[in-house]
Amino acid sequence: MRKDLLTIEALPVETILQLLDRSDYYLEFLKASGPLTTPCPLPSTSSGQALEKEGEFKILKGYTVANLFFEASTRTRTSFELAERRLGADVISLTPAVSSLAKGESVLDTILVLEAMKVDAFVVRHNVSGVPKFLSERLPDFVHVINAGDGVHEHPTQALLDAAELRAALGNLSGKRIAIVGDILHSRVARSNAWLLKKLGAHVTFVAPDTLMPRNAGEVFGIETTNNLDDVLHSSDAIMMLRIQLERQARGFFPSVEEYREQYGMTPERMKNSTALILHPGPINHGIELESEAVYGERSLVLRQVKRGVAVRMAVMEWVFN
Ligand code: NCD
Repeated sequence: MRKDLLTIEALPVETILQLLDRSDYYLEFLKASGPLTTPCPLPSTSSGQALEKEGEFKILKGYTVANLFFEASTRTRTSFELAERRLGADVISLTPAVSSLAKGESVLDTILVLEAMKVDAFVVRHNVSGVPKFLSERLPDFVHVINAGDGVHEHPTQALLDAAELRAALGNLSGKRIAIVGDILHSRVARSNAWLLKKLGAHVTFVAPDTLMPRNAGEVFGIETTNNLDDVLHSSDAIMMLRIQLERQARGFFPSVEEYREQYGMTPERMKNSTALILHPGPINHGIELESEAVYGERSLVLRQVKRGVAVRMAVMEWVFN
């Protein structure tokens, strides 16, 4: 049976831990400068055949991966591409604006056309929740689908990289207190993180104004919710700030950006009143949810998250193909 990565919700905790461990391993390799040519003890395929080539790192050699990003992306798209190339895959990255999608071709037709050219895996980002699952149900059994962010549903690889960096900084996440702050309603990052951090035993709190809190979030995710950031500032081991997703806000969810910043921004005063690590998936609205000093300060994991992105996506690509 083929492996897809569509949600964290459906991913067993053993698989999550395996992917986090494997990303630690790849991160070490990425720290070394120069080409990745050191032999590494990769697991064997189900047929028992060793995946690694002597002296090489190219476990996806001979496979083709297509990255289909129907929404804007810098970090996710680039890190998937780098991860795929580092593992030796042939990589196609389709830009919808200059493909036949711009002539009205459907997403499904596009993907079936690429599959006919023997694409072995699709990495898909789409602004509609459920599109990666929809495609995976219509593709042949041997083609993999990886969700790179679907609407307001899930962003599995972002949650994996966040957890990997949190684990590296805090150790075992069981009992650790993590606050996720801001535009939760529109955030697939918040949803995937809530599922994942709960599975690892962390204590998660969503912090948002009522207008940006998903309905019944507490019961759905088995977490706490509050609309007062200052209540969790002292007790949190880590605080994940989210971008206000202005492109998804058809109507006003808060009176003004200034008011939002005052209530939910990680301001210099709040930084002083907390010892928590700071995360943000990016892109960042500087001066709204996070100040520049906090982004590049010593408690920030923001650039580590980016670096970890490549390692996590290498681990994920290896896992789906193995
Ligand atoms: C996030 C996304 O696209 O869901 N960004 C990312 O992948 N790093 C968060 C966001 O857009 O705010």
